[in-house]
Amino acid sequence: MSTTVTLIPGDGIGPDITEATIRVLDAVGADLVWDRQMAGASAAARYNDPIPEATLDSIKKNRVALKGPLETPVGEGYRSVNVALRKTFDLYANVRPAHVILHGGRFEKVDIVIIRENLEGLYYGAEHYIRIGDDPKAAAESVALITRYGSDRAIRYAFEYAVKHGRKKVTLVHKANILKYTQGLFLDVGREIAKEYAGRVQFEDRIIDAMAMQLVLKPENFDVIVTTNLFGDILSDLVSGLVGGLGLAPGANIGPTAAIFEAVHGTAPDIAGKGVANPGALILAACLMLDHLGDTVRAERIRTALHAVIDERTMLTRDLGGTASTSQFADAIIARL
Ligand code: NAI
Repeated sequence: MSTTVTLIPGDGIGPDITEATIRVLDAVGADLVWDRQMAGASAAARYNDPIPEATLDSIKKNRVALKGPLETPVGEGYRSVNVALRKTFDLYANVRPAHVILHGGRFEKVDIVIIRENLEGLYYGAEHYIRIGDDPKAAAESVALITRYGSDRAIRYAFEYAVKHGRKKVTLVHKANILKYTQGLFLDVGREIAKEYAGRVQFEDRIIDAMAMQLVLKPENFDVIVTTNLFGDILSDLVSGLVGGLGLAPGANIGPTAAIFEAVHGTAPDIAGKGVANPGALILAACLMLDHLGDTVRAERIRTALHAVIDERTMLTRDLGGTASTSQFADAIIARL
């Protein structure tokens, strides 16, 4: 029976890479029906609402969505639609696998999965200005909320992921030396959960600043990384840079009743509309979606074809050093399928 999936093409390069991804999914014979919806700047322009009710209803009904990048105005305007979607659907774990696909770079053996707590920390959204005298913006304050409940389910997800995927080690990344309460609580919860997995999954913890250096020097030392929201956001871009850039970095947002699959990258305004964006990250996100839907065979067929196209090096997009367009790259994958 076919599965209906909410499809949000998104802003900037979103529509281009989404079309390329759909063509690849069609070519592999994935049994999917698309329920097309809008969000982000395109929805704000059309409906005066960056997250229309119809989009939320569609995700609620289908429980699975494939989403292109959404524009978020910096410093002003509407709040991040991505953050709002994560909150609305309780998408507590953000899963971002990164391994070397384009060989011949600085590293050969990187194979890291970052599990980021997706709802709390500094992205919780409790921010305000403080007026002092005549200056309404004399200061600004953000609350970093960490709960035992939220930490527990994100960290547990990381350990369960490690067990399910045969991975050996979980590294919890924190800043508990300075932020003793919030980051300290996250670390305490991690240490408790680690005891339950002793003998099955190794556990270690690292302070974020040292971790940033170690990831750049010796990324092959890491396996599954679990961390709080802001650190996870930053480290996942860092790790994608270790394996060839944002163009090949997929992500999954997982919750108890819905899951949203997307690329790690944004709308790439500098190349939007030029037809040169790499659709690889969204195609790989679609593979994570197929895995989630139980169609691991087709997911693996697409991944194998994509890896082969990249190994050949004749049809690479500009971010990978080639000259191929978005659709030529997708055509090459389809030909391989
Ligand atoms: P970005 O990820 O859009 O771009 C960073 C750099 O990577 C740019 O040079 C861009 O050309 C390049 N790049 C990104 N994806 C690429 C691809 N598929 N192929 C080739 N090159 C690619 O980050 P930026 O510029 O900081 O953000 C732009 C907008 O995207 C902002 O409005 C931001 O809020 C939004 N954004 C949305 C995300 C989402 O919806 N999940 C995630 C990150 C940013």
